[in-house]
Amino acid sequence: MGFYTDRILPHLTDKVCGVAANDTLRRRACAGLHGAVVEVGFGSGNNVGFYPAEVERVSGVEPADVAWKIGAKRIAASTVPIERAGLDGQSLPFGDGTFDTALSTFTLCTIPDVAAALAEIRRVLKPGGTLHFVEHGLAPDASVRTWQHRLNPIQKRIAGGCHLDRDIPALISGAGFETVELDRFYLAGAPKAFGALSLGVAR
Ligand SMILES: C[S@@+](CC[C@H](N)C(=O)[O-])C[C@H]1O[C@@H](n2cnc3c(N)ncnc32)[C@H](O)[C@@H]1O
Repeated sequence: MGFYTDRILPHLTDKVCGVAANDTLRRRACAGLHGAVVEVGFGSGNNVGFYPAEVERVSGVEPADVAWKIGAKRIAASTVPIERAGLDGQSLPFGDGTFDTALSTFTLCTIPDVAAALAEIRRVLKPGGTLHFVEHGLAPDASVRTWQHRLNPIQKRIAGGCHLDRDIPALISGAGFETVELDRFYLAGAPKAFGALSLGVAR
C-alpha cells in the first residue's frame, strides 16, 4: 500500500483517534458488549480499556501490522483475552453465528467495500447479536454535506481511504440490521464536516 499508509498513518491514527476527547464516545459505544466480541478495524487497540467486564474475549480484525504493534502494550495489559483473528472486515474468517456482539469505531468510513463488511459482521453474529458503533459520516445538514463531498477526495488521500460522506445509519440498516439505539450529533470542538457522528447499537 505504500510507506505512508503502512508505516506513518497507523501512528497518526493512533494519536488522532486516541485523543481523550473520544473516551466518552468509546465508553458509550462499548456499553453492552458481552461474550465473544469481534472488533472490526481494531487499529492500535484504542477501545481496549473500555470493554465491559461481561466481555469474554475479543477477536480483532485489522489489516495494518504497524497498528497492531502500536497496540501491543494495551493488548498485553488487557484483562480481556484479545487475538488478531483476521485482516479484512470484508471477508471474515469465522463461521456463521460465532459472536455475541461486534464493535466498530471510526472504521466503517474506511473499509473499501463497507456493505460487504457489514454483511460479514451480520453473518458472524449470533441471531439477536448486536453491532455497537461510533462512526463519523454524512452530516444531517445540507450545507455541511456540501463541504463533506468537496473535501472527500483529499480526506481519502491523506487518511487511508477514509470517506467523510458515508451515510452510516443507512448503510447499517441497508445491511439488514435493525437499529436499536441511534444518537446523531456533532462532536464538540471538531469541524462539522469531520465530526458528524452516529453512535448506536444495531441488531
Ligand atoms: C481510523 S482507524 C480506527 C481505528 C480504531 N477502530 C479506533 O477507533 O481507534 C480505521 C481502521 O480501519 C482499519 N481498516 C482499513 N481497512 C480495513 C478492512 N478492510 N478491514 C478491517 N479494518 C480495516 C485501518 O487499518 C484502521 O486501523
